[in-house]
Amino acid sequence: MRNFRFPTRITLSLVALGCGLLLGACSEGNETPASKEVGKVDKTTAAPALSAVAQVGEKLFFDKALSASGAMSCASCHDPAHAYGPPNALAVQLGGAHLDKPGLRAVPSLRYKLVTPAYSNELFDPDGTEPPGPGGGFSWDGRANTLAEQAAQPLLSDFEMGNISREAVVEKVRAASYAPLFLEVFGSRAFEDGVKAFAGITQALEAFQKEDPDFRPYSSKFDAYVMRGKGTLTVPEQRGKAVFYDPRRGNCASCHIPDLNQFTDQMYAAIGVPRNPAILANAADKFYDLGLCGPLREDMKPERSLCGMFKTPTLRNVATRSVFFHNGVMTSLEQVIRFYNTRDTNPEIWYPTKGGKPQTKPSSDFPTYGLITTQYAGGKVQKFNDLPTAYLENIDPQMPLDGRAAASKPPMSEQDIADLICFLKTLTDGFDEAADKKQPASGACVN
Ligand code: HEC
Ligand code: HEC
Repeated sequence: MRNFRFPTRITLSLVALGCGLLLGACSEGNETPASKEVGKVDKTTAAPALSAVAQVGEKLFFDKALSASGAMSCASCHDPAHAYGPPNALAVQLGGAHLDKPGLRAVPSLRYKLVTPAYSNELFDPDGTEPPGPGGGFSWDGRANTLAEQAAQPLLSDFEMGNISREAVVEKVRAASYAPLFLEVFGSRAFEDGVKAFAGITQALEAFQKEDPDFRPYSSKFDAYVMRGKGTLTVPEQRGKAVFYDPRRGNCASCHIPDLNQFTDQMYAAIGVPRNPAILANAADKFYDLGLCGPLREDMKPERSLCGMFKTPTLRNVATRSVFFHNGVMTSLEQVIRFYNTRDTNPEIWYPTKGGKPQTKPSSDFPTYGLITTQYAGGKVQKFNDLPTAYLENIDPQMPLDGRAAASKPPMSEQDIADLICFLKTLTDGFDEAADKKQPASGACVN
């Protein structure tokens, strides 16, 4: 595979030709028939009715009684008003019986997850230039291969919904107002076998996420103007799109593959995200969240070449988030992009310095948008402080994180950064085409 080069742009236009406007139908091969229409659904036509099993799943998804605390549903962390991502700015959420147990990772959005293939160490990399590698699976470490498998985890995790057993979950569903619907779908004796009933619960949660068009509305400006060609992006947005694709500037498209790939190649990469001291587990010096090689995922623990790798997330609706990366360490889109731009050229603003002397007044060219805002004289920057040195070779060398020397010129200009933010904002669902045509939005991203 190493010699197989296929320019991204050509791949994309071929795919676009084949799919035309049937966005939803084309991009998601493993859907139920009812959901195939989704790409075409607009606000004026009623969404297709959910199947009975998906209706059960919808009830389950919003049912707070399914948690040990009685106060937490799937939607508490995956809020529909926030693209099924976190409703707050916490790096990790609090769960468990008393809602006081912090999690280990930031909550991902549940939108546009249907294309997720099962995890494999040798998945085909759709960028066409890389050999097959680790890819697929749900969550930051791909440890669930299906949405049903995934749904079992939060129900039973002691820092999420906190149920002590599968049977405990089944008992709660048996007592729920929608128990008759559950029995209608899974048979009148469905509650008698706890294992089967629990499997039914996770199957229903999967059906809901697969069928409800709200998990993939394709209603962003990008979808309307770029994919469906109903208008044009503004000049700053178009410039931002160019930065996104440009292998010498953003190069974002090489991992966050756009369009039909939902802005992720489904692959894993170690990009050296700084350690987040706000995560309680990180108080222990010896604790490291190494993604694919554990500790949450257990089957790849011996695979040292996978340590530090996390799944490339979708960038759809990313502008609606308040925390970014697997550990929620960044708090704005601008900060994320600046990290990509200056991780190597200014590591001192992203990672702590040991042994230096803090300056009361930073020099005028010391950037203040980083995680570290104190300038040090001397000392040693603890670059890649969330990855043990044995795994540093796993860090991905791709642009814009190409390992260039400290204090050298970063790949993106100030203009590029501003434009890139404008482009990423076009990926937010709920764009109002009619209103935009009457009076285009104002602000930094207009012509
Ligand atoms: C306490 C907050 C919380 C609750 C409650 C919760 N989740 Fe999650 N969810 C998360 C976090 C955090 C992750 C990422 C986990 C990881 O990478 O280890 C996640 C990941 C997922 C994913 C994988 C998404 C992806 O990008 O691959 C799915 C699907 C999901 N959750 C569905 C559910 C369902 C269904 C429920 C209810 C049964 C639920 N979640 C309840 C926090 C939560
Ligand atoms: C080498 C592949 C690669 C490249 C190139 C890349 N990314 Fe990423 N991106 C990732 C991975 C992997 C993560 C998750 C890393 C983690 O959390 O440890 C990520 C995470 C993100 C996130 C956080 C999203 C969230 O939901 O928390 C944003 C935003 C993002 N990337 C934007 C960009 C932009 C903009 C560019 C171009 C300037 C870019 N990425 C280039 C692989 C890449």
